[in-house]
Amino acid sequence: MIEAHNVSKAYGRGVFAIQDLSLRVDKGEFVFLTGPSGAGKSTLLRLLLRQDVPTEGQLIVGGRNLANLTPRQVQAYRRSLGFVFQDFKLLRAKTVLENVAFVPRVLGMATSQQQRRTFQVLKWVGLQHRMSARPLELSGGEQQRIAIARALVNDPMIILADEPTGNLDPDLSLEIMNLFREINARGTTVIVATHDRELIRRVGRRALTLNHGAIVEVA
Ligand SMILES: Nc1ncnc2c1ncn2[C@@H]1O[C@H](COP(=O)(O)OP(=O)(O)O)[C@@H](O)[C@H]1O
Ligand SMILES: [Mg+2]
Repeated sequence: MIEAHNVSKAYGRGVFAIQDLSLRVDKGEFVFLTGPSGAGKSTLLRLLLRQDVPTEGQLIVGGRNLANLTPRQVQAYRRSLGFVFQDFKLLRAKTVLENVAFVPRVLGMATSQQQRRTFQVLKWVGLQHRMSARPLELSGGEQQRIAIARALVNDPMIILADEPTGNLDPDLSLEIMNLFREINARGTTVIVATHDRELIRRVGRRALTLNHGAIVEVA
């Protein structure tokens, strides 16, 4: 599903955030990206999101080289992904329901389908009873669940998460990871970047360790 062939990403002259990195993630896999701050985890996720293109090498997703997509194809590609951030990025003035439902609305889904899908994903993350709340009335763990529901509403083929538990305590972090495990069990490919090695140990999935933009350990 995802293949990186000798991918490098330079910022400015000679500063490599990713360096000669090759990897393969199969459809339906759950993979952690780990390594210290500055290792290149976020950069790799940005390349996968096609917010940026490699300086060298090829990044192939679903058989397509991401560098060769037209703007229209980039848009369609991004719609096939779900993304979760450390700081949730919820709209504070909107309710939980509105935060999730705006995605299918923007995508032009039929109204009845929008509703059905929004209720379904809110139920999956266990927050259907908080639909009318605003994000700041919820705990950090609940806010991240809403963000995950929003990422799922579009039925993405891949979920990418960048330090999704960075603002959460260890117990809530494990809860969020269990949610990712459930999502993965339904067939979605999941890639989670985290520097939290203890959390990875507790979840027990494949982990690729980056350092200075290269994979230094596969476990
Ligand atoms: N937009 C940018 N411009 C310049 N350097 C960047 C940019 N983004 C990241 N970097 C550099 O690339 C390296 C990798 O960063 P990043 O991918 O954010 O690592 P991580 O997410 O593992 O902490 C760091 O040295 C960082 O300073
Ligand atoms: Mg990062």
